[in-house]
Formats: sequence, C-alpha cells, structure tokens
Amino acid sequence: MSLVTFKVNKPFSIIILVIIFNLFETVSCISVTNERYRLNYHIMSPAGWINDPNGFSYYNGEYHVFYQYNPDDATHANMHWGHVTSEDLVHWKHLPIALYQDQPYDVDGVYSGSGIVVNESLVLMYTGNVNQIDGRDFSTQSQALAISSDGESFIKYINNPVIPFPPQNGGNDFRDPKIWKYNDTLYVVLGNQNNLTMQGRAVIYSSYDLFDWTYVGVLAESTGSFGYMWECPDFFELNGFHILLLSPQGIEANGDDYQNIYQTGYFVGSYNYRTNNFSHSNTFIELDHGHDFYAAQTMETPDGRRIMIAWMDMWERDYPEQEDGWVGALTIPRELTLSSSGRILQNPVQELIALRTSTLLNTTLNVEGISKLFDVHSAEILIKATFNDAITQVGIRIELGNNSCVLAYLDTSNNKFVLDRGDNDPRRTLINVTNANNPEALEMRVFLDKSSIEIFLGDGEITFSSRIYPSSTPAVYALSNGTVTQMEVVAYELENIWSGSWCIRQSSFVQAFYFAAYLMAKLYIQ
Ligand SMILES: *[C@@H]1O[C@H](CO)[C@@H](O)[C@H](O)[C@H]1NC(C)=O
Ligand SMILES: *[C@@H]1O[C@H](CO)[C@@H](O)[C@H](O)[C@H]1NC(C)=O
Ligand SMILES: *[C@@H]1O[C@H](CO)[C@@H](O)[C@H](O)[C@H]1NC(C)=O
Ligand SMILES: *[C@@H]1O[C@H](CO)[C@@H](O)[C@H](O)[C@H]1NC(C)=O
Ligand SMILES: *[C@@H]1O[C@H](CO)[C@@H](O)[C@H](O)[C@H]1NC(C)=O
Ligand SMILES: *[C@@H]1O[C@H](CO)[C@@H](O)[C@H](O)[C@H]1NC(C)=O
Ligand SMILES: *[C@@H]1O[C@H](CO)[C@@H](O)[C@H](O)[C@H]1NC(C)=O
Ligand SMILES: *[C@@H]1O[C@H](CO)[C@@H](O)[C@H](O)[C@H]1NC(C)=O
Repeated sequence: MSLVTFKVNKPFSIIILVIIFNLFETVSCISVTNERYRLNYHIMSPAGWINDPNGFSYYNGEYHVFYQYNPDDATHANMHWGHVTSEDLVHWKHLPIALYQDQPYDVDGVYSGSGIVVNESLVLMYTGNVNQIDGRDFSTQSQALAISSDGESFIKYINNPVIPFPPQNGGNDFRDPKIWKYNDTLYVVLGNQNNLTMQGRAVIYSSYDLFDWTYVGVLAESTGSFGYMWECPDFFELNGFHILLLSPQGIEANGDDYQNIYQTGYFVGSYNYRTNNFSHSNTFIELDHGHDFYAAQTMETPDGRRIMIAWMDMWERDYPEQEDGWVGALTIPRELTLSSSGRILQNPVQELIALRTSTLLNTTLNVEGISKLFDVHSAEILIKATFNDAITQVGIRIELGNNSCVLAYLDTSNNKFVLDRGDNDPRRTLINVTNANNPEALEMRVFLDKSSIEIFLGDGEITFSSRIYPSSTPAVYALSNGTVTQMEVVAYELENIWSGSWCIRQSSFVQAFYFAAYLMAKLYIQ
C-alpha cells in the first residue's frame, strides 16, 4: 500500500514533519563536565536530570530500578525512564533507556509508574503525559503498559492507554500508578485531585488480566489539611497493617513538621478489599526530616522484606551539580518495618555492608567540644554516645571546606535532633532517645557520600536525608558541646560502585518510527 492512499490528516502530517526534523538531529546525551559532586554508591544517571524512582521490582534474578530521566539536559523536561539493575541492591549498572516519549499518548512525558512481574514478563505501568496545545493550560494524563521478556527492551501495549481518563470527579492531574497483586487480582493505586473539593486523593482500579481495568473507588482523600494533589502513592501491607505512602503537595508547614517544599509520608490503617474501606488514622506521618527526600517507592524482595527508595532531592531548589551536567540521585535502599507504636522504622538494607572497604576508625572517645575523627568522602559512621545529665549537644560536625559545615546533633535541652547545613534552613524533630535501659544515650548511623548525608537514629524511627556540597574532602568531627560524652565510633570507608558513565539512546528517528507504527497499527485494527 502506498503512503499517498492515506488521506493526509493532522496526525499524519505531524508524523512526516517529525521524521524530517529528526533526520537532521544528532544522537547524543548530555555529559558530566565535573566529577566533584558525583556520588560513589547512590543510584544516579550517567548525566542529565533524574527525579522519581520508578518500576522498582525484582525480575530474572535482578533488582530493577527505573527513574524519571532527561538524557538531553540537566533540567526537568523530556521525561524518559532511565534504568539500572543490580543482583544485590548495592552494585548497580546502567542499562539502555527503557521508555521514550514516542507515542501519541506520551509525547510530552513518560511519567512515573511501577513494575510487576506477570506471567514471566516484566510489566511497567506508567503515566503518559500530553500537553494541551489549544490554549487550555493543562495536560492529559493517562495510564499505559510496557512489557519486556528480557528485562531490558520494552514494548508498549498496542491498545494503550489502558486507563485513558481520570475517574468520576477526577481532575486532570492523574498519575503515578503503583501496581500490585492480591489473591489473583491486580490492583493499581493512582494519585489524583478531587475536582469538586480541589483536594488530593488516591484512587484504586482492579483488573483480572492486566489490560481491562475497573474503577474501584477512592482509597483515601484529603479532608482539607493534607494537600491539593497526591503524587506517587504506594499501598502495601506491613506487619499486618496497611500503609498508604504518598507525596502530597500543598501541606502547610507546622512547627518542625512539613518543612519541605513538598512532603512524603504515610497513613497507617487497615483495608477491606471487599468494601474498599481503608480505615486509617488521620495522622499523616512524615517519613524523613531532611531537606531532600521525595516520591518514595517500595517493593517486596523475594525473601519478603519491604524495601524503599526515594528521590534524594526536592523540587524548586538550587542544584549545585546542575552546572556540571547532571541533577539528582536516589537514596540508599531502606528496609521498612512497623514499630509497636505504629511508626515506620527505616534501616539501610543489610546488603549495604558489602560497600565497606576498610575500617577508618574503631575506638571509644571521651569527647568534650570537638574531636577530629577523619577526612573522608564516602563513609558509614556508627556512633553510640552516652552522656550525663548536663545539657549538651551531641553528634557530629562535618567541615566542607570554604568555611561551611554541617552539624548533626541531638540537643538534650529539648530532645530534638537537628540537621543544620549552615544555610539558615536547619531541620529538627523531636526524637525519643530509645535505649530504655539508658535514656541518656544516642545511636546514630550515618551514610556519607560525596554530596549527600543520610542519618538513621535509634531503631530507624527518625531519618534525615539531605544533599550537601563540599568544596574539599570533608573533615568529620565528634561533637559534644558543654559536657564530656563517651562515644563509641566505628567507621568504614565505602566503595565507589560506578566505573565510567555512558548513555545509550535511540535516535529520534527510531522514536518517530514507533510513533508512526502505532498510528498505522491503529488504522489497520479499526
Ligand atoms: C470534574 O470531572 C468531571 C468528570 O468526572 C467533569 O464532568 C467535570 O466537568 C469536572 N469539573 C470540573 C470543575 O473540572
Ligand atoms: C497468565 O497466564 C495464564 C495461564 O496461561 C492465563 O490464564 C492468564 O490470563 C495470564 N495472565 C495475564 C495477565 O496475561
Ligand atoms: C484472599 O485469599 C485468602 C486466602 O485464600 C482468603 O482467606 C481471603 O478471603 C481472600 N480475600 C478476598 C478479599 O477475596
Ligand atoms: C470502614 O471501616 C471502619 C472500621 O471497621 C468502620 O468504622 C467504618 O464505618 C467503615 N466505613 C464504611 C464507609 O463502611
Ligand atoms: C573494633 O574493636 C573491637 C575491640 O577491639 C573488636 O572486637 C571489633 O571486632 C572491632 N571492629 C571492627 C569493625 O574492626
Ligand atoms: C566559597 O564561598 C564563597 C561565598 O559563599 C563562594 O562565593 C565561593 O564560590 C566558594 N568557593 C568554593 C570553592 O566553593
Ligand atoms: C515517642 O514515644 C511516645 C511514647 O511512647 C510516642 O507516643 C511518640 O509517638 C514517640 N515519638 C516519636 C517521634 O517516635
Ligand atoms: C556549642 O556551644 C557554643 C557555646 O555555648 C554555642 O555557641 C554553639 O552554638 C554550640 N554548638 C552547637 C552545635 O549547638
């Protein structure tokens, strides 16, 4: 059949234009121009921008993490899915870009989503974004599938999108499908806005075959104080309870709480699958108290652990690494458990012990004021501090060069732990000093990387995750202000898992071909 036998309609002429333009485009990714802030053991892209983790799953003996990725520039635009895999949750390797914006329903962004193994295929479900060009200021968001039988190349389902419109009273913001299976039925939870109340909500659909989805109803929604839009929902069982994890936008700061521009946290409750009743506490608990933590996503490992990773950055910030050709990283993977008081505990996955290369320090110190420990870029630092009754600030001080430093300490005058990057934006939160036998003790586990710090306190009930930007090798000090504190310090230097960076991408010509192929196939099917 010759091309001219088609009536030249609008989409078809667009395809031809796309193909012509792309014949002249060179195929290359942006590259990193300065390694100073490149992380040693965190997931990051070869170069360019990344945000939310996506499609966190286990398939064919490997963990898969995808991420929102702009390979062309270190800015939030042209969303693709970047892809890394690991056999051990520690050593990651880059794979070719998994999903491109190459279909009519995702031309303006392959937005966030999740992954699940169905009948020996790795299935990704994501949000296709299309900006409206007729003057109305919104985009159309629909839900689509991509399927792989080798864990590397993905084919988009021909009848995408599988959930084309938001449900009843759903605003146009309708995204971030998180898929799971329960009793042979597939479920997906999505973020949305109620267009009558303009409040954030999470909605559920179910399917028996992956392709036909039925709207189940609203899982939970804001009644006024939990934000105008809920992003990146995740719904899972933990120690017999159901957790709705999400990243709401529009929660007002309240004292020490909700100090980030956008939040990530959870509701704890119990869910009845027959009635779609999620009976939950009305308390939205923040997951992390640092500056850079958003869009957390979880998966269940083959041995039944619930593991979470998150974007270790925040929207609407200055990103010092941007001028080096890249932005963004993911947190280390953390295992989640639920405490008896109904709070999520986060601890670094046990596999991360494999990162330790050498012992930097193993000692017990009596600290009064500051005491130098070592100079290091990437380390794990374990501290057990025991102090007396006197009011004190106990923790660590990290000098970053150029007169800037990071302080991370417990202030015993108010039992608040503080992370202060010296930028007039310190973060603090009340902590329960957890050792019942010895209330005057603090346990800290710190993961330091070239431009990040993650702090785990007590049993993991409080964490702080923030980016930091040293101008020389950081100098780490033990800190005890006002009194003598006994500190047991064990520290390990951590490995650099990345060797070389590269980027593989299809040419836009190939993408345009897929775009055209989709429309042709549609014509033949009808
Ligand atoms: C809200 O969504 C419904 C579809 O469920 C639509 O008919 C209605 O026009 C929308 N209202 C507003 C104010 O956008
Ligand atoms: C998986 O395979 C079984 C058996 O072949 C089939 O009945 C089922 O419909 C398949 N499920 C999906 C989602 O394709
Ligand atoms: C799920 O399966 C379990 C075990 O077969 C059963 O007890 C339970 O009632 C099922 N739940 C629903 C909602 O069907
Ligand atoms: C949901 O479950 C809770 C607790 O079992 C119950 O109090 C509430 O009435 C239920 N809500 C609906 C709408 O059925
Ligand atoms: C630290 O020292 C103690 C006592 O000397 C020893 O038992 C322990 O194995 C050491 N730990 C490390 C990580 O070297
Ligand atoms: C040192 O700090 C000053 C003032 O904050 C800044 O202008 C300068 O760029 C910094 N230098 C380095 C090497 O980071
Ligand atoms: C501290 O402990 C009290 C009493 O056990 C509990 O109610 C509270 O939620 C805890 N706070 C934190 C931040 O863990
Ligand atoms: C330590 O104490 C000094 C003097 O009281 C005070 O200026 C300083 O801010 C304290 N440092 C911390 C980290 O609280």
